[in-house]
Amino acid sequence: MSSKSDRPLYLQDGIVVLDYGSQYSLLIARRVREARAFSEILPWDVSAEELDALAPRGIILSGGPNSVYEPSAPLLSAHVLERGVPILGICYGMQLLAHQLGGKVAPASSREYGPAQIQLEDMGSPLLQGLPPRLQVWMSHGDRIESLPPGFHVLARSDNSPVAAMADERRHLYGLQFHPEVAHTPRGREILSNFARLCGCRAEWSAGAFVEESIAAIREQVGDGKVICAVSGGVDSTVVATLIGRAVGSQLTAIFVDTGLLRKDETSENLRRFSRYLDSNLVHVDASERFLRALAGVTDPERKRVIIGREFIAVFEEEARKLGRVDFLAQGTLYPDVIESAASSTTAAARIKTHHNVGGLPENMRLRLVEPVRFLFKDEVREVGLALGLPEEMVHRAPFPGPGLAVRIMGEVTPERLETLRQADAIVREEIARAGLERSIWQYFAVLTSERSVGVMGDSRTYAHVVAIRAVTSEDAMTADWARIPYDVLARMSNRIVNEVTGVNRVVYDITSKPPATIEWE
Ligand code: XMP
Repeated sequence: MSSKSDRPLYLQDGIVVLDYGSQYSLLIARRVREARAFSEILPWDVSAEELDALAPRGIILSGGPNSVYEPSAPLLSAHVLERGVPILGICYGMQLLAHQLGGKVAPASSREYGPAQIQLEDMGSPLLQGLPPRLQVWMSHGDRIESLPPGFHVLARSDNSPVAAMADERRHLYGLQFHPEVAHTPRGREILSNFARLCGCRAEWSAGAFVEESIAAIREQVGDGKVICAVSGGVDSTVVATLIGRAVGSQLTAIFVDTGLLRKDETSENLRRFSRYLDSNLVHVDASERFLRALAGVTDPERKRVIIGREFIAVFEEEARKLGRVDFLAQGTLYPDVIESAASSTTAAARIKTHHNVGGLPENMRLRLVEPVRFLFKDEVREVGLALGLPEEMVHRAPFPGPGLAVRIMGEVTPERLETLRQADAIVREEIARAGLERSIWQYFAVLTSERSVGVMGDSRTYAHVVAIRAVTSEDAMTADWARIPYDVLARMSNRIVNEVTGVNRVVYDITSKPPATIEWE
């Protein structure tokens, strides 16, 4: 964990979220950031010294799967309470406050899970400022507070929870039984924003200030060293390379490995953008033949990913070696990656797909890392991109997987099948753009299935490929729903694909949410 001295200024004076194992801890931090206050997640048993280094203005205790009266329940350390800064306990966090400060927590007669209405009892509390007397909230708890700890009073109640929110305003301690961070609590953002305000956080994070501070920090870290960075054309790597280029210019070499698995015209668009926006050297490697050779005959999705990851690293290393001495590797690591890898070193996270990120690179190259956006969420990286002057359509580009079209072709990847998919996919993208739907849909693309079906074109029978259209709405790709694209847009896509793409005679629309399906087909 970094000490205060090597931390950028914007990381101070924020709100620390102590994580008790809630699936929503990241979301809490993100909502606090949306209120323009800085927020960071730390484990529940963080030391007093570590908190000292961060000097938080407020602390949020997350929810969690435990019951406070279990013998092994994670507790609230005395040093956290003794800091004297405002504390907000959410769900399990509130029960901890109640349990440890002399109240009583017990199993509720019925578990409360899902939407609920609460009635505010104290409209004057700074935590609930600006809210109406009745609120829609999201509950998810088995225990509830039976009696308040001394000094607390009830801020809100629901039919099932006599204490849906509580406070001891003299000591700046607050508790919410419901989850203000989730979208199902529509006014929850205001509650978290109220909390940030009552903590005295300066709501002043700005992408412009971040850029300036970050450029200074990169110059200091890199000195006269040489930096390499893989650029894919995606938002994260482009923002990172642009930032570092601004900081150290030609000390940075950006390496664009063209896997040959990109969408129609993507290589040329990437190259045009790189030459326009990157103040660095650029190496473009056309490795498409090498990737196709390595993928020949491979049909298993995970093997495809492994092969692509391996080849990518090999190509990148070969190029890097040609540059002679290199000191630093720049990566577009984001805050959720940092938290996820911290969590997965202690818990075994289920691996559903091996995600190959072009950022995750050579361990044996002994390079020091430059990760200028490692404390940022994706939407903050986008803001930084705009502050750097990158174009809107680039900054708001939909995510595209590292293994590219290889995981959108069921079965073997061949040049012919790539070409078929490219054409179909370009039509999907054109029609989405024409309908003005780019920003409301999270990802949209075509998939080349391994199926063939019978059709009739003119007077003859055909037996040709089936293309699937996949389009989803999502906030973070963890869950997703199929996009309700207007029928006439779907009709145009289907019509154009069967007419314009040779070898395709049927188009289907994927109407599965995630879970149970994933966004990609492979
Ligand atoms: P799934 O298909 O798991 O995808 O619902 C979730 C998000 O991750 C992207 N994705 C990948 N990204 N390498 C990547 O860099 C991969 O192997 C990979 N597989 C899926 C997917 O596009 C979606 O945004």
